[in-house]
Amino acid sequence: GGQSAIVDGMDFSKQATWGGRFDEPPAELMLRFSESVSFDRRLAAFDIQCSQAYAAMLKHIGILNDLEHESIHQGLAAIGEEIESGQFIWQIELEDVHMNIEHALSKRTDAAAKLHTGRSRNDQVATDMRLYFKSICSTIRDCLKGVIATLTERAEVQAEIAIPGYTHFQRAQPVGIAHHWLAYVEMFARDYERFQAVWQRANICPLGSGALAGSTLPIDREFLARTLGFIDEKGNPRLTQNSMDAVADRDVFIEFASASALCSLHYSRLAEDLIVWSSVEFGFVSLPEAFTTGSSLMPQKKNPDALELIRGKASRVQGNLHTLLTLVKGLPLTYNRDLQEDKPPVFDSADQTILCLEVLKATLAGVETRPERCRAAVADPALLATDLVDLLVERGVAFRAAHHCVGALVGRAEKLGVGLDQLPQEEAIAIEPLLGDDWKTVFDVRRALEKRTQAGMPSPQNIKKQIQGWKNWLKGSSEH
Ligand code: ARG
Repeated sequence: GGQSAIVDGMDFSKQATWGGRFDEPPAELMLRFSESVSFDRRLAAFDIQCSQAYAAMLKHIGILNDLEHESIHQGLAAIGEEIESGQFIWQIELEDVHMNIEHALSKRTDAAAKLHTGRSRNDQVATDMRLYFKSICSTIRDCLKGVIATLTERAEVQAEIAIPGYTHFQRAQPVGIAHHWLAYVEMFARDYERFQAVWQRANICPLGSGALAGSTLPIDREFLARTLGFIDEKGNPRLTQNSMDAVADRDVFIEFASASALCSLHYSRLAEDLIVWSSVEFGFVSLPEAFTTGSSLMPQKKNPDALELIRGKASRVQGNLHTLLTLVKGLPLTYNRDLQEDKPPVFDSADQTILCLEVLKATLAGVETRPERCRAAVADPALLATDLVDLLVERGVAFRAAHHCVGALVGRAEKLGVGLDQLPQEEAIAIEPLLGDDWKTVFDVRRALEKRTQAGMPSPQNIKKQIQGWKNWLKGSSEH
């Protein structure tokens, strides 16, 4: 039974774009089930850019005359403005962003009927998405730079503050809090490079691949690539080299989701560190009120909800990667409609990555250290047991023997119920005479940090150099 609704001058008794061979319209349930315009409409600007380039190419090869080209170009621009101002009416009967825009164009000019010459939505959506990836990778890289700048600034302001570093979540050795911040800078800088690599990977033009086997028409693929900015450093166009791969390939989607998932590990771990540090038990930092919440029951609470959400959203971003891997793994070449499901996880990963990085940056900017709590924690003399081992090694004791000896000192101090640095001199000498009368000089956090001067170690001079290095990087990394 055909419903023969005429909406907006369009006859829905047949599907306008591909209805030629059908007698019946798609079921209403099918329309709701198969539409993607509710989420792929955010590709509109890229779809219009892609179609304008396509129209220019069709003119270039003589399929559109000047007037036709002009009317398509202007029509698409006007549609773009309508979309941007929220006036455009999206119709799920038209399935996706591509057909909504093409249909709107056909209302404006008869030349619209020529726009899709030699083109398929398969190469069209592949191209739209590559334009999207190039744009979103640049945005995310800006966000990463913002976080790196804030961490570097924190490191500089708090350069004097030492805390215990942890392994196994047990106190291990002292570090400057700046060293801890800069550890995350390293991670986010790697993320920055990864999104740069995804950008590069996206920078190849699939347009002109058609549905899967190109076209018999003299489509100028180099023209398209150049017009859309798919070029290398020398300005040469970059084209996909196999039309089947070009429409079936979703590698760059997965690389983007993977870069996002890795990045989420980093912001989630930093969130976890801050949650722990802001607890009463640690008390190394206090969090900005603007990014914490109270309890509806317990009046004293100040909860780190922003950081917990950052940690929670990381799981979502990791799930998106898994969704994409699973989506593609069993698909025969080339395009299959399953692939329409590739966009929600990508958009979600992008949105959550950007949000998490923005919230993290804002939270970090308001994190205050509590120097007295840091000082109390780092005053634990056991943190310098390893430095005492090093002292004995400098005096000729073999490392294993020195380790054993300091272990005995720790055990003895524990039995006496005193700190390692309070062990009576006679007791110490009885265990190892080479300790001499100056062994307690190691119980000085400043000394411990100042002696750690090799590459990557937390000496104050190194930290200063690192901070300067990252400041220079931030100044010089503004390309793309
Ligand atoms: N909305 C579709 C998608 O994102 C566009 C491609 C549709 N191609 C097709 N042959 N049905 O996958």
